[in-house]
Amino acid sequence: MGNDEMSSLVDTSDEWIRQRSGIQRRHIASEAETTSVLGAEAARQALKAAGLAPDDIDLIVCATSTPDLTFPATATQIQMALGMSHGAAFDVQAVCSGFVFALATADKFLISGSHRSALVIGSETFSRILDWTDRATCVLFGDGAAAVVITAEPGAGTIADRGVLHTHIRSDGRHRDKLYVDGGPGSNGKVGHLRMEGREVFKHAVVNLADTVEHTLAATGLKGSDIDWFVPHQANKRIIDATAHKLGVPESRVVYTVQDHGNTSAASIPLALATAVGDGRIQRGQLVLVEGMGGGFTWGSALIRW
Ligand code: UT7
Repeated sequence: MGNDEMSSLVDTSDEWIRQRSGIQRRHIASEAETTSVLGAEAARQALKAAGLAPDDIDLIVCATSTPDLTFPATATQIQMALGMSHGAAFDVQAVCSGFVFALATADKFLISGSHRSALVIGSETFSRILDWTDRATCVLFGDGAAAVVITAEPGAGTIADRGVLHTHIRSDGRHRDKLYVDGGPGSNGKVGHLRMEGREVFKHAVVNLADTVEHTLAATGLKGSDIDWFVPHQANKRIIDATAHKLGVPESRVVYTVQDHGNTSAASIPLALATAVGDGRIQRGQLVLVEGMGGGFTWGSALIRW
């Protein structure tokens, strides 16, 4: 759905949306394409790319804030769609930081030795929780899904190892009213709509994202200039640019997909990873830094050697 179509729904323009957010288009799932349907397709593609079958996976962690149903977890519906009845599947809810939280969770399960191979999925149908009369929010979000596979392998325990090298996650519940959905099973029994104080979220995003990335870099002894690819959550091109600038990462090493997807919440980082792996930018052995910030507030980052 292009920006021009948006201007037929609310008082907005292609120029405003591009200038303020960098978004040019977003994708809207059809009625039959629920979060688990999108997530299962992403999972199949990730398994294919990894050369693995569902039998090789023993953990599914799905990051989503738009589950098909309040319960069961979307991850269990994806598990069923993949024909799996073994292993464990559950959801992680950290809104736009969901993928980083899900990756951190799966990584710790693998490190503990309890599980061997995990599908980490970000899948969202935010079009279902948008107020399509609120121009301040409806132009910004879209639907999508993407997934990665991580597998436990012995390593040297240094940053030369491949895989997830470090994760850092944070939250601060005091900021609930700046970004939330005004409905839920435990309050008014409604699905609700996304509400956001955009300017406030923007201000916190730049500070919090730089902070979590600096934390991850310090923990691994690296500098912004050591990173091959910076793959941030895709909410707003201006937030991405400001964060990259603060960290000293040049634009040529930043992956942008916000122009094509809008903000797909938990799906945005893995969609950007899939794009940059698919077009050959991210190569085996390179250092990839991901970060995200969302409702809660929640925020976090992860360093991966691809
Ligand atoms: O994923 C994590 C969650 N989300 C984010 O990270 C989003 C963070 N925030 C943002 O990306 C930006 O704050 C926005 C893109 C939401 C807004 O950009 P902004 O530069 O902060 O604009 P603003 O909210 O200060 O609004 C500027 C003007 C206002 O008009 P006045 O008061 O200056 O007359 C708004 O009413 O733009 C108006 N406006 C619009 N105009 C045309 C707000 N939405 C629209 C619109 N089209 N869609």
